[in-house]
Amino acid sequence: MQIRRSLIDLTDLSGDDLRYVFERTAEFERTQPGKLLEGITCVNTFFEESTRTFTSFNLAELRLGADVVNLSPRDLSLAKGETIEDTAISLGAMGVDVLVVRHPEDGFPQRLAAVFDGHVINAGDGSHAHPTQALLDMYTLSEEFDGVHGRTIAIVGDVAHSRVAHSLIAGLKRAGAEIVLVGPAPFLPEDYAERNVRVERNFDAVLPQADAIVLLRIQRERFESMPLTDADYVRDYRLDADRLKKIRDDAVILHPGPYNRGMELDDCVLDFAGWRYAKQVRHGIPIRMAVLDFLVHGRR
Ligand code: CP
Repeated sequence: MQIRRSLIDLTDLSGDDLRYVFERTAEFERTQPGKLLEGITCVNTFFEESTRTFTSFNLAELRLGADVVNLSPRDLSLAKGETIEDTAISLGAMGVDVLVVRHPEDGFPQRLAAVFDGHVINAGDGSHAHPTQALLDMYTLSEEFDGVHGRTIAIVGDVAHSRVAHSLIAGLKRAGAEIVLVGPAPFLPEDYAERNVRVERNFDAVLPQADAIVLLRIQRERFESMPLTDADYVRDYRLDADRLKKIRDDAVILHPGPYNRGMELDDCVLDFAGWRYAKQVRHGIPIRMAVLDFLVHGRR
């Protein structure tokens, strides 16, 4: 079996690959590229809920002319005793070329990539990684600042359980950004600190320093009990009207979604001039078109 290229995390992309994917994303935003994936079959299987990632992968595949099959977990024969590896082998035998998978278990997409005769794309595995979300966040920030090198990007909230944060930190480090992680100790252990990555507890002190603030949702589905009260979290880390007054006029605010109003952000953030959530969501489609085209066809 030929081992084909997969995207499990950003480490699967070289610097040149990253640049290429961003260039293609910009092209695909300007003009629809036509049926670059004609004759290619994509299967999307999501073991966790998704609005943005699921829909944008579907739209990306359809816009590139792929054949698309959406398999919900209950459509698979896992309850009959089939392993997920044997499922992947069967899909490969049917000529499926691309498998897009989301799963609550860290490392699940790697298990598929080890046996699947095609390309696996990680659409989010547990707390581990969410590479296409990190790509679209980086693309959004780069468009805003004409690159992120030297920019101070604050990532705020439940870093420890956030696959988005883990992939984004890795990507921003490679791009030369200064990263400030902000949150309470249970969501942000000290050992996240490293070269160009600072750990801060005081959100108010960080607000005037940041070019961009990336808010995170508390990933309640990934732990047993909330390690601090909601009221304490809101007091120290919710972005609200008072905290908005402390950020720079030209700063932007991102959120990967889904966002929880009243927890990490107040409604007024959605009306703030620097709120870039809609752009992020919009970029999700051309980013995923560029990733699909790159994995299937390589750089050209
Ligand atoms: N950002 C993100 O992964 O959103 P969904 O869970 O809706 O796909």
